[in-house]
Amino acid sequence: MQIAIDGPAASGKGTLAKTLAMKFGFDYLDTGTLYRAVARDALAQSVDLQDPEGQAEALCQIAHNLVLPLENTDGLRAAEVAQAASKVASLAAVRDALIAKQRSFAATPPSGHGAVLDGRDIGTVILPEADIKFYIDADIAVRARRRHLELSVHDDSLTLAEVLADLTERDARDKNRATAPLIPADDAIFIDTSEKNAEEVLQLVASLVEERQ
Ligand code: DC
Repeated sequence: MQIAIDGPAASGKGTLAKTLAMKFGFDYLDTGTLYRAVARDALAQSVDLQDPEGQAEALCQIAHNLVLPLENTDGLRAAEVAQAASKVASLAAVRDALIAKQRSFAATPPSGHGAVLDGRDIGTVILPEADIKFYIDADIAVRARRRHLELSVHDDSLTLAEVLADLTERDARDKNRATAPLIPADDAIFIDTSEKNAEEVLQLVASLVEERQ
């Protein structure tokens, strides 16, 4: 079974995808980590991300070289890496380099039972034939509070206003890019998590998945 989960940052899609995969014994791929890994490695190699188009060849090479599962996950959650990931993700060549890796994971998940992929273009581009698709969203103020709480564990210098500005900028870039923008697939089930906790979202989604099994 293939489950596609899309939505903006801090919508709750990652927590949902992970817990859903555990509940059903499926494998989980957080596709944002792929873009984050490309961005982290590019920053480490001093690739100029002010002009991602001009650096397409170097970025594409980094993307091609990624092997799943990622061995090195250091630094992927940093705010700076998240912003850079959104920039590298706007390049069609980088996205193309990562498509086959994501599809291959979904087609042959290690458990052999099923796969849950979360990201921005899973239902629209990566797995258009997924068995079930969800689009998870929440009010931007709620998302900013969640992400601020999460990031402040490692970095208490970030203000809520900075996190809100960061999410707003990233949303705009992810939704307006020419290639694979963040939009709900026509057949995605829309869930607003603004007033739901993680357990409520999981129960709701799990019951919908059970109906499709
Ligand atoms: O889900 P995340 O915050 O870890 O994703 C980081 C960035 O990667 C996000 O701003 C946009 C990009 N991304 C994408 O374009 N397509 C995906 N399937 C997943 C992430």
